[in-house]
Amino acid sequence: MDLGLKGKVALVTAASKGMGKACALALGAEGARVAMCARTESDLKTAADEVRATTGAEVLAMPADVTRKPDVEALVQRVTSQWGGVDILVANAGGPARGFFEEMSDEQWQQAFELSLLSVVRLVRAVLPGMQARKWGRVLTIQSVSVKQPLPDLLLSNAVRPGTNGLIKTLAGRFGKDNITFNTVCPGRIMTDRLMGGLKASGLSREAYLAQSSADIPLGRVGTPEEFANVIVFLASERASYVTGTAIQVDGGLVRGLL
Ligand SMILES: NC(=O)c1ccc[n+]([C@@H]2O[C@H](COP(=O)([O-])OP(=O)(O)OC[C@H]3O[C@@H](n4cnc5c(N)ncnc54)[C@H](OP(=O)(O)O)[C@@H]3O)[C@@H](O)[C@H]2O)c1
Repeated sequence: MDLGLKGKVALVTAASKGMGKACALALGAEGARVAMCARTESDLKTAADEVRATTGAEVLAMPADVTRKPDVEALVQRVTSQWGGVDILVANAGGPARGFFEEMSDEQWQQAFELSLLSVVRLVRAVLPGMQARKWGRVLTIQSVSVKQPLPDLLLSNAVRPGTNGLIKTLAGRFGKDNITFNTVCPGRIMTDRLMGGLKASGLSREAYLAQSSADIPLGRVGTPEEFANVIVFLASERASYVTGTAIQVDGGLVRGLL
């Protein structure tokens, strides 16, 4: 299947590691030009070099914190001046702090809002005029299965990410006329630094931790960043032209609900 991604300009934020990096690699492998950001310049450079070396794609890497408005504006401006605009936005960010209701300060609530929701608002605001002018666009945001089903120790994710899905669904309704699709993609448990960050606190061996993490997943294992990126690439492609306003899990069957 020709995905029709050759020459498209993709901006993947939070792309130096994990699922963001896997998306940059997968989009580059399909012939897209890839702009990527993260906060830590050295990690970003290493990831950008990897995307160039393994895919041969043109890559633009620029350090940026997606919670900072000037960073987001400068990032999109740079991509636009270099390549004429952004066709595909993969709005990714780090995850909000773990924890329970009793522990959360106003500052942590505010940070979660800025990280998971306001960053997407600002990114979409910056890329939208170009997509409207070209009458083609793909906006994807990486959230979590917490959009579908609350997770036990992730109150902030449970509370804020569904709001981002509400934003995406609303934008799908408003800008479908411009041939721009908007979708939320919801990872379950994917093998990244974030997932493995829980290993130490678990007190388990790596094998036991992964077995525990997989116990309630129908496919019996955590997913790989590449498996996640495959879904992003399809939704970003020409072939997904009639898919918009959805929130799709990539979770090995973890979410048990029907919707
Ligand atoms: N892995 C899972 O199982 C899982 C499950 C559900 C949801 N999620 C969510 O999916 C998203 C990606 O997770 P992941 O597991 O791929 O994470 P990861 O491996 O920890 O990578 C996070 C990436 O985001 C960048 N980043 C973090 N904060 C940023 C910011 N403010 N501005 C720009 N870049 C930023 C990091 O680089 P710098 O730190 O250098 O900026 C890094 O490149 C997160 O929102 C996470 O909560 C993950």
